[in-house]
Amino acid sequence: MAKKLIMRFVTFFLLMILATTKSASLIPSYNITDFGAKPDGLTDSAKPLLAAWSKACSSTKPASIFIPSGTFFLSHAEFSGPCKNIGMRIFAYGATVVASSDYGSAFATWITFRQVEGLSIYGGKFDGRGKPLWACKMAGGNCPTGATSITIIDSKQILLSGVTSLNSQLFHFNIYRSTAVTLRSITISAAGDSPNTDGIHIQLSSAVSVSGADIRTGDDCISLKDGDADVDIEHVECGPGHGISVGSLGRDPLQGGGVRNVTVRSVTFTGTQNGVRIKTWAKENNGGVVKEVRFEDVVMNGVSNPIIVDQNYCPEKKGCPKQSSGIKISGVSFKNIMGTSATKIAVKLDCSESNPCSEIGLDNIDLTYGEKKMAAQSFCRNVNGRSSGLVIPPSCL
Ligand SMILES: *[C@@H]1O[C@H](CO)[C@@H](O)[C@H](O)[C@H]1NC(C)=O
Ligand SMILES: *[C@@H]1O[C@H](CO)[C@@H](O)[C@H](O)[C@H]1NC(C)=O
Repeated sequence: MAKKLIMRFVTFFLLMILATTKSASLIPSYNITDFGAKPDGLTDSAKPLLAAWSKACSSTKPASIFIPSGTFFLSHAEFSGPCKNIGMRIFAYGATVVASSDYGSAFATWITFRQVEGLSIYGGKFDGRGKPLWACKMAGGNCPTGATSITIIDSKQILLSGVTSLNSQLFHFNIYRSTAVTLRSITISAAGDSPNTDGIHIQLSSAVSVSGADIRTGDDCISLKDGDADVDIEHVECGPGHGISVGSLGRDPLQGGGVRNVTVRSVTFTGTQNGVRIKTWAKENNGGVVKEVRFEDVVMNGVSNPIIVDQNYCPEKKGCPKQSSGIKISGVSFKNIMGTSATKIAVKLDCSESNPCSEIGLDNIDLTYGEKKMAAQSFCRNVNGRSSGLVIPPSCL
């Protein structure tokens, strides 16, 4: 009896082992070095990467691509779908992928994922080598716009985990016309004075989540643009940079109707130009909405404009005939926001005359001015709402 039982167990385990090894061997995986990529930082890996992608994308089973340790040069690549499976993975732990430092290329994006459904990217450092272009721009030369480092466009179910983007020429990440995109444990680093190097730019996208990001850059840490909905941002360290911004919106007529349902929670800003911001152009004709936006549990360390709603944006006062925004802002709450402002006005709610902000909430705000923690001030114009809990500087709502 016991013998029979043992035999049964043994057979069962043998079958288990067989089954797992068999299924493991059935997961197609492609190592880019097998396609000719060389970790010498010089040989262009575009062809090997695209060859591996083509194999993985045409596989009917979830497939993996390995970019091993080492430095790989990549001129430019576009990975497009649709693919035959929705469980692709790219493993790039220990790998550094570098762009060309020659900014003369005509590409708008260095690395693009287009029409892809179901892709996870783990690890990897992507160095856009933007410094020469920034220098050109800062010298006021006639310079090209430059390339965004990584664009995800017309895609869904995308995860980026533990990915680092360095020294982008332009934006580091651009999420465009995509849904269900998760960015987890992301590192972004560029000089504080580098022009237009936004960290994460999100536009016409929904169900986007950023969870864990350390962003040091020369422009917005995260910018939410027209057509964004259901966005969750949490555990972000921002600075240097221009803060987390909804907008600017309304320079041109909106295609996506505005921005809805955004939560920004557990964020620290250090030495940034703005903390949490909503910004629209002062153009009457370009209508739309910004609604259901929550900013919660935020720490400000020497931030120039910690809380700012600015609907009167019109650089050089050009092209904004009526100086009033057609965008309606409502249902925005600021809750548990503490720390220091680098300017006297710590809370600025400057809304549209024709479309006053409504349902604006201030709850538990404690912001002081300067290192000596002097009293700060609030400024309100064309805004309706209410405050609750402790609110310092005193609310002007
Ligand atoms: C990929 O190939 C390289 C070079 O042969 C090797 O060093 C590396 O371990 C391989 N990685 C994987 C995950 O197979
Ligand atoms: C708001 O967005 C979150 C995801 O970020 C989602 O879970 C929630 O259902 C959305 N709320 C509404 C009212 O659509």
